[in-house]
Amino acid sequence: MLPEDMVAQQRVEQAAHEVFARFGYGEIRTPMFERTELFVRGIGEATDIVSKEMYTFDDRGGRSVTLRPEGTAGVVRACLEQNLFKQSPVHKLYYVGPMFRYERPQAGRYREFWQAGIEAFGVSDPLIDAEVLVCAYEFVAALGIKPVEIRLNSIGNEERPAYIEKLKDYIRPRLADLGGRDQERFEANPLRMLDSKDARTREMLADAPKVADHLSSESVEHFEAVRRLLDKSGVPYEVDPYIVRGLDYYTRTVFEITTDGLGAQDAILAGGRYDDLVSEVGGQAVPGIGFAAGLDRLILAMREQDVAIDEGSRHDVYVVTIGDDTRETAFEALTALRRAGMRAEMDHQGRSVRAQMKTANQLRVPYVVVLGEDEIAQQEATVRNMDDQSQETVPLAELASRLSARSNP
Ligand code: HAM
Repeated sequence: MLPEDMVAQQRVEQAAHEVFARFGYGEIRTPMFERTELFVRGIGEATDIVSKEMYTFDDRGGRSVTLRPEGTAGVVRACLEQNLFKQSPVHKLYYVGPMFRYERPQAGRYREFWQAGIEAFGVSDPLIDAEVLVCAYEFVAALGIKPVEIRLNSIGNEERPAYIEKLKDYIRPRLADLGGRDQERFEANPLRMLDSKDARTREMLADAPKVADHLSSESVEHFEAVRRLLDKSGVPYEVDPYIVRGLDYYTRTVFEITTDGLGAQDAILAGGRYDDLVSEVGGQAVPGIGFAAGLDRLILAMREQDVAIDEGSRHDVYVVTIGDDTRETAFEALTALRRAGMRAEMDHQGRSVRAQMKTANQLRVPYVVVLGEDEIAQQEATVRNMDDQSQETVPLAELASRLSARSNP
């Protein structure tokens, strides 16, 4: 990512810090790699991520380590290791960082990509599901992305194995007509067939038993409460019985957010509840829920949708020198300007005044400071306002304070 790319990257990262902090989440940074075992247990052996997308290798000590394919498992591991749940089960954490998946690269899908996500631990109440969803909505909306389409589902918990059996009973006699990939899924991860992109599979599943009809009364109540809270918050969503998500740790609430202009990789954010993950990773039972947004996809969507990303000047002032003997004084002025908080630059190659002015124009600076021998003799500088081309003479000693006052009135 070059400086031009980083303008958009910083904008989305900044929005993550701002919005997540507003919802009461504190930042956590976990290592870029973990023991392989953590992801196998946490994400699930039968998932695509674990079975074919991980960057796994042995370190020099012969331990199998994996570049993190997602953030949740590492956050859980860190909380357990730091004994956070012993102090209180309730923790609200967020992260921003790169993730790694050995997927087939295409537009919006990379082998190294960035996620910003939140995880709320210790609360079973549907209020927290709604909070996480409102936070997701506000984050995407804060970036100017439209529409923000939330698809929501509940996949239950203890009742799921019985549902999966029903689903398999329905699919089994129809299995021979399906593509190879879905046949594999039938064995390894039948629930994932529900969000298959294969038209034949989708058609076949139109009349399949719906998870919504097989939820326990507690799961139904939970889901209804989440929906009521979202309605009250004015957050639009759609219930989609085919949303199951590709990670094994989800229980009950699952969701994804899509938008326009991204083609096949249109999920810009996804998440759900994971009430059994903490105990599976090796701790006491602590419920959790969270999401992760794909920053690369958010930026693609912003560009696709022509959201104005402030690509204004990265400099406030350019110091132009006339004659070699002025460069040391210019350097002093430059340092004073920078210390006063201004993004100031000068030429480092001893180029002509014309070339320096050209650079100042290209940088689109609002002010140019001109230093010639006459000015230095008078201990003055000429300040040119590049908007209206007006000029004034300013004592060198006051240059930094006057210009910074003008830039930050
Ligand atoms: P996920 O659905 O695997 O969930 O990924 C979340 C988001 O990361 C996706 O919606 C997408 O925007 C982005 N993403 C995933 N893979 C790629 C890729 N190869 N290239 C670009 N972007 C990608 C998780 O990772 C869960 N940990 C989310 C979560 C947090 N659930 C609970 N807490």
